[in-house]
Amino acid sequence: MAQQWWRNAAIYQVYVRSFADGNGDGVGDLAGVRDRLGHIAELGMDAVWLTPFYASPMADGGYDVADYRAVDPLFGQLSDAEALIADAHGLGLRVIVDIVPNHTSSQHPWFVEALSAEPGSPARERYVFREGRDGGPPNDWESMFGGPAWTQVADGQWYLHLFDPGQPDLNWQHAEVHAEFESILRFWLDRGVDGIRIDVAHGLVKADGLPDAQCTDQGGLLTAVELPYFDQDGVHEIYREWRKILDCYPGERIGVAEAWVRGADRLALYLRPDELHQAFNFHYAQAEWSAQQFRTTIDDSLAAVAGVGAASTWVLSNHDIERHVTRFGGGELGLRRARAAALLTLALPGSAYVYQGEELGLPEVTDLPEEVLADPKWERSGHTERGRDGCRVPIPWSGSEPPFGFGPSSWLPQPRDWAALTVEAQRGDPTSTLSLYRDALLLRRDLPVEGLEWLESDPDVLAFRRGPSFTCTVNFGSSPVRLPRPGRLLLSSTQEPELEANEQTVTLPPSSAAWWTGEEDAHAR
Ligand code: NOJ
Repeated sequence: MAQQWWRNAAIYQVYVRSFADGNGDGVGDLAGVRDRLGHIAELGMDAVWLTPFYASPMADGGYDVADYRAVDPLFGQLSDAEALIADAHGLGLRVIVDIVPNHTSSQHPWFVEALSAEPGSPARERYVFREGRDGGPPNDWESMFGGPAWTQVADGQWYLHLFDPGQPDLNWQHAEVHAEFESILRFWLDRGVDGIRIDVAHGLVKADGLPDAQCTDQGGLLTAVELPYFDQDGVHEIYREWRKILDCYPGERIGVAEAWVRGADRLALYLRPDELHQAFNFHYAQAEWSAQQFRTTIDDSLAAVAGVGAASTWVLSNHDIERHVTRFGGGELGLRRARAAALLTLALPGSAYVYQGEELGLPEVTDLPEEVLADPKWERSGHTERGRDGCRVPIPWSGSEPPFGFGPSSWLPQPRDWAALTVEAQRGDPTSTLSLYRDALLLRRDLPVEGLEWLESDPDVLAFRRGPSFTCTVNFGSSPVRLPRPGRLLLSSTQEPELEANEQTVTLPPSSAAWWTGEEDAHAR
């Protein structure tokens, strides 16, 4: 396979609980993923990222790990993971697994030991235990899921959990914590995984003395303000160590940062040549539907990664954020914009992650009944925030009724009108969103790895060239825009033949994108 494969790879995110149910208990599992790997390979993906499938009490859907080397019975057993890695490789798909180093589960043997140990004892040193302040928690840090980031234990001390109380933060000043995670990395690399996605990569190191954040609503400020528990410079030392481990293995194994940081320049620090290979571009996922916002985000991102010799990693959706069909307005308009956004994203230089179901044009499910909500945010926010379940509803594969071939049942109910969105319903339809993704991913293979040149155009339009013979145009506006014809049409995001073109000009429909080939039009800026 090509060298530095990650620089332009298309990577499919599997949220294991919601992808496909192989053992019939209503929850997705590794056997289900194995059965459906063909879908990912046929789409034209280069790799697959699997969210955590390790032994876990599921306080946060598996991001609370009790044993990093064991598969939770809900998802299968270790042999299923090994077979899945082998099957994926057989189909030409690389495999990235999730590593959760910021916190363990509260049922991890280390934390169980810490709880039964005395304050100040070595077992407590692996976590962040402190005395309280004025009868309350040690500082003003807030959990990302709501409420204080501290929980008091029976002897009066408090422990830190930036997420759920079932996810105590580890102390990354502790040598044993370093050694244990190095061993966990090797465990999975020895099993042939091609990469690791690092959960909360920006959170491992906390500011000395654990100073107050001095603000409230900290969870909502992730990319706006400096916080004493996120994006501290000390985290980079850890990734330099991990990079040495990755580099010991043959076949270009990669590290991917999940880092919510303030700006593109801070994110690029994770991508320095001796650190990680990819970092999700959440600034892109946060851009609102406007030519100007997307242009600024793309320019800032490309400039920042160029400074460290890395590539950008574009993301529109994942299991933590509202699906972009809904973010971009919902309904027909949202889908129309989402299809245009897909062509924009897949035309950019760099790698692209596709979250399961976005290739089907799935919207967020906003009306899940309260009794099925499982995201800890729902409880922690005192039932004021419904949380992330709406983007985790199981995938509709086939048939005309829920659970649409996901399994005999599904742990979150699917909307009935997803009958029109199943893989089966879309597969043979050349105008479907599934076909659009498949066509785009195939054409994308011929794009140059690097380089983007903006073309002069209307304020509502982004137009750029990649090399001499590929142009992408995106009309963000609500009116048609006439442009000099960029070449021969390769692919259009609109489902009907709305795009009008003659020899010299083309009319781009509202909320649409198109790919063109040929050397016509030389309006380079
Ligand atoms: C990021 C994961 O993507 C999210 O699902 C999880 O809740 C937090 N990290 C905590 O592990």
